[in-house]
Amino acid sequence: MYFYYKNHLKETLKEYNVDYIIIKPGEKSKSEEKYLKIIHELLEKHITRKDIIVAFGGGVVGDLSGFVAATILRGVSFINIPTSLLAMVDSSIGSKVGIDTHYGKNLLGAFKNPLEVIIDFNYLKTLPKEEYNNGIAEVIKYYLIDDVSLLEDIKNNNLENIIKKSIKSKKEIITKDPFETYERMYLNFGHTFAHAIERHSNYEIPHGYAVAMGMDISIRLGIYFNITNKEVLNKLHNLYSYYDLPLFKGNIQELVPYLSSDKKAHADKINFVFIKDVGTPYIKQIEKEVFYEISSF
Ligand SMILES: NC(=O)c1ccc[n+]([C@@H]2O[C@H](COP(=O)([O-])OP(=O)(O)OC[C@H]3O[C@@H](n4cnc5c(N)ncnc54)[C@H](O)[C@@H]3O)[C@@H](O)[C@H]2O)c1
Repeated sequence: MYFYYKNHLKETLKEYNVDYIIIKPGEKSKSEEKYLKIIHELLEKHITRKDIIVAFGGGVVGDLSGFVAATILRGVSFINIPTSLLAMVDSSIGSKVGIDTHYGKNLLGAFKNPLEVIIDFNYLKTLPKEEYNNGIAEVIKYYLIDDVSLLEDIKNNNLENIIKKSIKSKKEIITKDPFETYERMYLNFGHTFAHAIERHSNYEIPHGYAVAMGMDISIRLGIYFNITNKEVLNKLHNLYSYYDLPLFKGNIQELVPYLSSDKKAHADKINFVFIKDVGTPYIKQIEKEVFYEISSF
């Protein structure tokens, strides 16, 4: 990705004294090892509190650099320039930054407010189609939990509305509940199983695709528990067909061991986000053991 934008960045930042740290693409870079390597590199370079860390990339770069900015020298300023659709509609908004640990995803992190988030649609011109679709999964999430009007925008791929309405949804939800005591948990719709799917696949399945599968599971479980209107499943599958998003074909029992280190889990219980219907999220505590008993749903 850096190679597409090397000259653009050099030109844009020519008046500043800039050091670049380039990371390998992929979730595996959001690791403890990479985090410490970057911290050491910045300390070697004598970073000061007056310096600014600028993230330029997808959600992996944003989460990792934001966490570096939150922690190095007890915090330096941070600017986020998201370049993937997923990062523009989701990860760059809401101040959560962090890395994965061997115990699970996003388990080491902070809330770090950036000085600025700069969203420029032009960067999406170089984004591969499957990465675009990966981001659409989170947009479908906003449609399902909050903004019913996104349906037509998603079907017509109305990019401007997709980005603006997604940001508005996320902003409204986190403004009500910045530290995730209740409403912010709605944003985790599909994510309890998505994170398990990512870990189970050793991060080979990208976040958005895992979220697509996780939302499929959540709706099917909601129907199983008589919480979710049955019609929602067809609506979901129909939307997925526009963007080649995957359904979950496996067995949820295999994923249960990976649910344990989810931050939403209290001991053996999980605050599971269902939807009653499109636009109506609903949280219910579920004992993890219950998932072992569900073989077909
Ligand atoms: N902090 C949060 O609130 C939050 C919310 C949702 C997701 N996330 C995290 O975001 C991450 C996923 O983000 P992602 O989907 O952006 O993945 P990513 O950062 O791995 O980017 C996906 C791929 O697209 C490439 N890419 C990005 N922008 C490009 C561009 N403009 N042109 C060409 N290639 C480009 C990247 O190099 C990478 O190969 C996950 O780690 C997830 O946990 C965080």
